[in-house]
Amino acid sequence: MRIGVVGLKMGLYLATWCRRLGMDVVAACDRDPARHDEASTELPGAILTTEWRDLLDHRLDGVVLANDFDEHAPLAIAFLERGVHVLSETAACKDEQEGRRLIAAVERSSATYSFAENYAFHPHVRLIRQAADDGELGGITLVEADYLHGMSPGAIDALIGDPAHWRGRIPATAYCTHTISPVLALTGAWPVEVSAHLVDETDRRTAAVLVVRLSSGALAITRHGFLQGEPGSHWSWVSARGTRALAESVRGPAERSWSVRVRAEGWTRTDGTPHEEERTPPPLSLHGETVEPGAEGTVLVLRGFRATVERGEPPLIPVRPAVAASLVGVAGAESLSLGSRPVPVPDVRTP
Ligand SMILES: NC(=O)c1ccc[n+]([C@@H]2O[C@H](COP(=O)([O-])OP(=O)(O)OC[C@H]3O[C@@H](n4cnc5c(N)ncnc54)[C@H](O)[C@@H]3O)[C@@H](O)[C@H]2O)c1
Repeated sequence: MRIGVVGLKMGLYLATWCRRLGMDVVAACDRDPARHDEASTELPGAILTTEWRDLLDHRLDGVVLANDFDEHAPLAIAFLERGVHVLSETAACKDEQEGRRLIAAVERSSATYSFAENYAFHPHVRLIRQAADDGELGGITLVEADYLHGMSPGAIDALIGDPAHWRGRIPATAYCTHTISPVLALTGAWPVEVSAHLVDETDRRTAAVLVVRLSSGALAITRHGFLQGEPGSHWSWVSARGTRALAESVRGPAERSWSVRVRAEGWTRTDGTPHEEERTPPPLSLHGETVEPGAEGTVLVLRGFRATVERGEPPLIPVRPAVAASLVGVAGAESLSLGSRPVPVPDVRTP
């Protein structure tokens, strides 16, 4: 399977995993030539270019888009028009019109679109999904998800202080895909309405809380940005409360933060006593070696992409939920500008 990659920071990480998983990375692009040195070592034999359009001529089966957060859709549309399967980093789109154009391009194309949302496949999220799918939790009524970074003010400045860089220019609500995608995957629901709140009104950059009404009637509360005390599980913490039981990732140190606490109330059990247990995710192995838990989501997303391209399996996260998750951030930004008023999320379930 011939792969091209655009953007060589996160993209280089994805490209090296593509190679480890047996995909052939034949071409890679970064507009910054300084990024090419490391890429030439990590991706021997790959053609390196500064212009992403060059990749359109490389007879690619698939392309991995890891360029700027708010610029994925135009590239995705161009590759889909060439019949190249797309695996796109988050976000899928920067507004509703662009999201609808992307959906239309996927529907016209002979190729597929997959969202590179590894957070829906982290070990703790998979354990919670398993409990939900097995019916242990009952109907899910409240989901909470955090994507938080415990960083110093200086480190935050260095990361998002430059308004010319995408991290500095995107709205405080935009990077919600790492929380909303797990919420949508767990509930099978769609976002309907969002109200957004800054944690600290005196500092727009710290963190935002989104309160999202879902099509199932459930509520999601997601927190993202910069707050102290982040969990060790790749900045991700998830909790799902059902009508019968709760499953949530453990707020514990190091490896324990990948585990999940499941509690069923006594009234739901034949012996009448509550049951509580901590579940540890089984290790994922690749060629006899254990994959480090923080990389499991990436490995599963790339394996899923390969299965879609080579065997025609459905994308793990196809275009509509990808656009829906991204539009929560867009509606959230509008809510913030309206003093946290609820704002409808465009319904992209059907044409
Ligand atoms: N899923 C995850 O865990 C995860 C982690 C990190 C980043 N990301 C995502 O990956 C994307 C990139 O993030 P990053 O941290 O690598 O950002 P970055 O800004 O550090 O790197 C992006 C690279 O892409 C290059 N680039 C941007 N636009 C380009 C274009 N049109 N043509 C050629 N090269 C271009 C830039 O020169 C830069 O080197 C973002 O969407 C981000 O959200 C995802």
